[in-house]
Amino acid sequence: MKMGFLHFFFFIIYMISFKVPILRCQDMACHSNDLRALTNFGNCLTSGIDGWNFSTSTCCTWAGVTCDNSTTSSNRVIGLELGKKKISGVLCESLEDLDQLRILNLSQNFLHGIVPPKLFQLQNLEALDLNSNDFVGSLPGGIYLPSIKYFDISFNSFNGSVDPTFCKTSPHLQVLDLAGNHFSGEVSTSFGRCSSLQHLFLNGNMLSGSFPYGLLQLQYLQVLHLQDNHFSGALNDGIANLSNLVELDISNNVFSGNLPDVFERLRKLKFFSSNSNKFNGHLPNSLVNSPTLEILNLRNNTMDGPININCSAMIHLAFLDVGTNNFQGPIPESISSCQNLSVLNLSRNKLGGEVPYKFKNLQALTYLSLSNTSLANISAALGILQQCKNLTTLVLTRNFQDEQMPSDVNLQFKNLKVLIIANCQLRGSIPLWLRGCKMLQLLDLSWNHLSGSIPLWIGNFSSLFYLDFSDNSFTGEIPISLTGLQILTDRRILIDGNAPGIPLYKKTGKSSTSLQYNKIGSLPPTLDLSHNKLNGPIWPSFGNLKGLHFLNLSTNELSGPIPDDLSRMSSLEILDLSHNKLSGEIPSSLVKLSFLSKFSIADNQLYGEIPTGGQFLTFPCSSFEGNNDLYGGGVFTSCQLAQRPPPAPLPPATRPPTEKMTIMGLQFGIGAATGFAITVIFCFMSGWVIPKPKARQR
Ligand SMILES: *[C@@H]1O[C@H](CO)[C@@H](O)[C@H](O)[C@H]1NC(C)=O
Ligand SMILES: *[C@@H]1O[C@H](CO)[C@@H](O)[C@H](O)[C@H]1NC(C)=O
Ligand SMILES: *[C@@H]1O[C@H](CO)[C@@H](O)[C@H](O)[C@H]1NC(C)=O
Ligand SMILES: *[C@@H]1O[C@H](CO)[C@@H](O)[C@H](O)[C@H]1NC(C)=O
Ligand SMILES: *[C@@H]1O[C@H](CO)[C@@H](O)[C@H](O)[C@H]1NC(C)=O
Ligand SMILES: *[C@@H]1O[C@H](CO)[C@@H](O)[C@H](O)[C@H]1NC(C)=O
Ligand SMILES: *[C@@H]1O[C@H](CO)[C@@H](O)[C@H](O)[C@H]1NC(C)=O
Ligand SMILES: *[C@@H]1O[C@H](CO)[C@@H](O)[C@H](O)[C@H]1NC(C)=O
Ligand SMILES: *[C@@H]1O[C@H](CO)[C@@H](O)[C@H](O)[C@H]1NC(C)=O
Ligand SMILES: *[C@@H]1O[C@H](CO)[C@@H](O)[C@H](O)[C@H]1NC(C)=O
Ligand SMILES: *[C@@H]1O[C@H](CO)[C@@H](O)[C@H](O)[C@H]1NC(C)=O
Ligand SMILES: *[C@@H]1O[C@H](CO)[C@@H](O)[C@H](O)[C@H]1NC(C)=O
Repeated sequence: MKMGFLHFFFFIIYMISFKVPILRCQDMACHSNDLRALTNFGNCLTSGIDGWNFSTSTCCTWAGVTCDNSTTSSNRVIGLELGKKKISGVLCESLEDLDQLRILNLSQNFLHGIVPPKLFQLQNLEALDLNSNDFVGSLPGGIYLPSIKYFDISFNSFNGSVDPTFCKTSPHLQVLDLAGNHFSGEVSTSFGRCSSLQHLFLNGNMLSGSFPYGLLQLQYLQVLHLQDNHFSGALNDGIANLSNLVELDISNNVFSGNLPDVFERLRKLKFFSSNSNKFNGHLPNSLVNSPTLEILNLRNNTMDGPININCSAMIHLAFLDVGTNNFQGPIPESISSCQNLSVLNLSRNKLGGEVPYKFKNLQALTYLSLSNTSLANISAALGILQQCKNLTTLVLTRNFQDEQMPSDVNLQFKNLKVLIIANCQLRGSIPLWLRGCKMLQLLDLSWNHLSGSIPLWIGNFSSLFYLDFSDNSFTGEIPISLTGLQILTDRRILIDGNAPGIPLYKKTGKSSTSLQYNKIGSLPPTLDLSHNKLNGPIWPSFGNLKGLHFLNLSTNELSGPIPDDLSRMSSLEILDLSHNKLSGEIPSSLVKLSFLSKFSIADNQLYGEIPTGGQFLTFPCSSFEGNNDLYGGGVFTSCQLAQRPPPAPLPPATRPPTEKMTIMGLQFGIGAATGFAITVIFCFMSGWVIPKPKARQR
């Protein structure tokens, strides 16, 4: 076919104008070998991958794929970065054909099964990140990754022993993260051959044996996390060899004996946590004089002697937790010279005495717990601590036995968000100075002997979402203002994004390094007035508290009907009205409370039919026992409601005055049981900022 000149001309124009795109298109096609490998990889998955189109060959443009186009001809795939892309399924062997790969990142997906062994033999691989999937199997013996710098298989289900024989052939390895798996046995001395290693994470496995002294060869090691394993025995002076360490976390193991007095040789150490071990003896002199330490956590050991922190030396100390030990008092006044101290936890030690006057100098202090330290004189304590202007959390539980709640109207805690003075057998009434604590979010005065009525102004706190006045001797009516607590009237409670939490540090589960503290926003919104002598009605306006999750009014002298309006408390999970003098029928609208998981109206004077439907189908007979004339159909027909077996109160009401419960309330108890690895450096870095809690999706 002959082409006319014009046609030819236009063809040229066409070629010129599309030249670039056509060539581009070729550039974007990866090497056929790699295209095949990627396609097979994709076909093995049970999910698609956003941004991948198998009907095109322009694989260099697929999401997360990087090609080496330094030479136009080859276009080899050198990067596959598909972290957090919601991909699921198993890994096909085809991936190992991407033999030019330098970065492989499949982290935070839903992949399972074994990792094809040849993936561990990619000669050019520099970074391998498989963290937070559900891979199984043991580490293969034949790992050969001569270029590897970053190796992260944390938070999977790998098991077996860890013997990184590949260390000797991986001279550039800097980061090795095996945390959060099921590795067991002793730590092999092979680690010592990873001579460039800077960060080693072995935490959260089932490793045992003594401290892995093989690691002492690692001259460049900066971060060593061994927490949450079964390591045991004493530490010896050898750890001083790790002179570049910045972070050392050995918490939640079974180490014992004295801490070695070698901290003066750890000249870069900023973070040391050995909480929840069996260390004993005094604080080593070199530890309490460390000029670099910012975070020191020795909680839950059996150490004794004085808390002789030398603040002239420890100028960077910001976090000190020596709670649950046998340290002896008095509370050292010298701590007041630690200018940068922000968090101080001395609780559960045998300190005694009073809060030292000089504690007023702790101007950086935001969190203070002195619970269960045999303190006396609450008036003096509050008078001094009110001068710590940055204090937002104050925990004084289980001290001051049988003292009077101070009523000095001049006390001022303008920034206080959390105040917990539980289980002190304090006498007196709710003090007027509390009214000035306008920032309060959590107030726990439970297990005291406080009496009188609960003042109306208690409803004025605009951020209060957790109030526990249980186990006192309060009389009078429930102040109706409580039913207007501003923040609780909103179904989606958003605690101020900058509010510091109760810094209970716990692991976030997935990432080994980003550990965060229990933010106050994660506590369930709670009103607990149980075990008092309150009388009068349950106000219908309780129905306004759409954000409330726990309401406990049990064991009082409340009378009148159960208001129909309670069915508007749409977030309610626990409702305990047992052991009162309530009369009338159970409003059938309560079946609308679709999140209610615990409910009791036992021991009242109710009658009529038990509503059926909704969550009511799940409540036991004991929820209804001890009433005048209740009867039920359906699941309740077999209940022997007329008889009065011994009352069985709900879990939140059965609370022996243990520190766990009274300090922290139900959720904290649970939190404590799950075990926090205290690793707070990141909290400090983030300036104690709480991210805005996700709106409750309910
Ligand atoms: C994939 O590419 C083909 C050919 O270019 C195109 O027809 C198709 O629409 C693309 N599919 C998606 C989902 O982008
Ligand atoms: C290689 O090609 C990709 C497109 O796949 C492009 O984004 C990148 O800039 C190119 N790199 C070089 C070094 O030319
Ligand atoms: C892997 O991807 C995740 C998610 O995008 C990212 O957070 C992580 O830093 C990446 N890992 C590496 C080693 O680049
Ligand atoms: C590893 O886990 C698998 C099951 O996933 C099990 O069959 C195997 O015995 C475990 N190996 C070791 C050493 O625990
Ligand atoms: C301490 O480190 C040196 C190298 O700095 C090394 O030769 C020695 O073996 C290490 N000591 C122990 C106990 O591993
Ligand atoms: C305290 O440490 C012991 C081990 O010494 C551990 O079993 C226990 O769970 C720890 N308690 C807390 C509250 O962390
Ligand atoms: C406390 O630290 C200062 C500064 O390092 C030092 O001069 C002093 O001797 C130390 N005091 C004690 C009791 O160790
Ligand atoms: C004290 O803490 C602040 C931040 O909280 C920090 O910027 C400052 O460097 C610290 N000072 C010392 C001496 O560590
Ligand atoms: C303070 O110490 C007590 C007792 O060891 C513990 O229960 C509490 O969780 C600690 N608080 C923080 C913030 O670590
Ligand atoms: C007290 O808190 C404020 C605001 O968070 C902060 O700017 C200030 O530096 C803190 N004071 C001290 C002494 O840390
Ligand atoms: C408590 O401390 C105050 C102020 O320091 C003092 O006046 C008072 O006598 C003390 N009370 C007791 C019972 O020691
Ligand atoms: C208070 O501390 C002592 C040890 O000092 C301990 O035996 C006791 O169990 C603690 N009480 C509570 C309620 O935590």
